[in-house]
Amino acid sequence: MEYRHLGKAGIRVSELSFGSWVTFHNQADVKAAVDMMSAAYEAGVNFFDNAEVYANGKSEEVMGAALKQLGWRRGSYLVSTKFYWGIQDGVNEKSTLNRKRLIEGINGSLQRLQLDYVDLIYCHRPDRTTPIEETVWAMHNIIEWGKAIYWGTSEWAAAEIAAAIEIAERHHLHKPVTEQPVYNLFERHRFSPEYQRVYQEYGYGSTTWSPLASGLLTGKYSQGIPAGSRGTLDGYEWLHKHLTDKEKLAKVQALESIAKELGCKLSQLALAWCLKNPFVSTVITGASRVEQVHENMKAGEVAPKLTPEVLDQIEDIFKGKGEDDED
Ligand SMILES: NC(=O)c1ccc[n+]([C@@H]2O[C@H](COP(=O)([O-])OP(=O)(O)OC[C@H]3O[C@@H](n4cnc5c(N)ncnc54)[C@H](OP(=O)(O)O)[C@@H]3O)[C@@H](O)[C@H]2O)c1
Repeated sequence: MEYRHLGKAGIRVSELSFGSWVTFHNQADVKAAVDMMSAAYEAGVNFFDNAEVYANGKSEEVMGAALKQLGWRRGSYLVSTKFYWGIQDGVNEKSTLNRKRLIEGINGSLQRLQLDYVDLIYCHRPDRTTPIEETVWAMHNIIEWGKAIYWGTSEWAAAEIAAAIEIAERHHLHKPVTEQPVYNLFERHRFSPEYQRVYQEYGYGSTTWSPLASGLLTGKYSQGIPAGSRGTLDGYEWLHKHLTDKEKLAKVQALESIAKELGCKLSQLALAWCLKNPFVSTVITGASRVEQVHENMKAGEVAPKLTPEVLDQIEDIFKGKGEDDED
């Protein structure tokens, strides 16, 4: 496993990390979480991603119970959580980054995770109704209180990230250090030219999500939605259009011959492609069973095989209509 700096922050993250969206509580109980986290950790993963909204807090409970059983040295791993959607219906508790909510949010997450602090807290989405200055101060205070070490953004516009950094610099506050953007062969808009400034000039990190486009890039949806897959889960019907998109499926099929030539799985090829982006600090993988973790963790071995010529072949498949479609 290779380790990369989280942008220009001092901390280093494993280039492949592991997240719990969809899976923990819905598909994986504490035992399955222990098995998968342990497989990832043994492969060198040091960063585990979560959010209070995942399974409405239950994903944090599962990860907290798993961490307790695993008993790893706290210095050897990083845990994150995120706030925005909230898990209660109150007027100040939904889709917001107001100061009260963020402070209550971190306290609830620490309880559910059974941790004294988390390493990273994210603003899960921008809140265009709360002044960025209020959010920056709240994140700074949470860090000053020792409840988190670093903070970042997720799916923020480049201009919003720049505004948060500038506010923090002006008041000598802890600056956000990383974005958490979607990034896979189909969706690359968070690395478009408007973000160059964020990554290059500010040295912002990136912890990227859905590297397999929810499993589509493994090739498992080529004959329709298979039993036991994310596409069959209640509450995720909104993914069907994406998982059965004929143009996308044709691209995945075309990728198959490249994977065969390289002697790897499609999943490993798709993950390795994300690793080739120098602005990516870590690719957050997801899995519903331990075999997938074992397979995905080998992607680092495939990355060196993606020569400029191979990357051009991949580009020939993915360029044009269908790329960068929003879900
Ligand atoms: N900040 C954000 O807004 C945001 C949004 C989404 C995700 N995230 C983070 O990013 C993490 C990863 O996202 P993701 O789960 O969408 O990643 P993904 O890699 O796009 O999809 C993972 C899913 O694909 C299937 N899969 C994975 N490896 C496989 C393999 N080798 N063979 C066959 N199927 C395989 C599994 O689903 P099935 O087995 O159920 O089919 C697995 O749960 C999340 O856990 C979360 O931490 C963040």
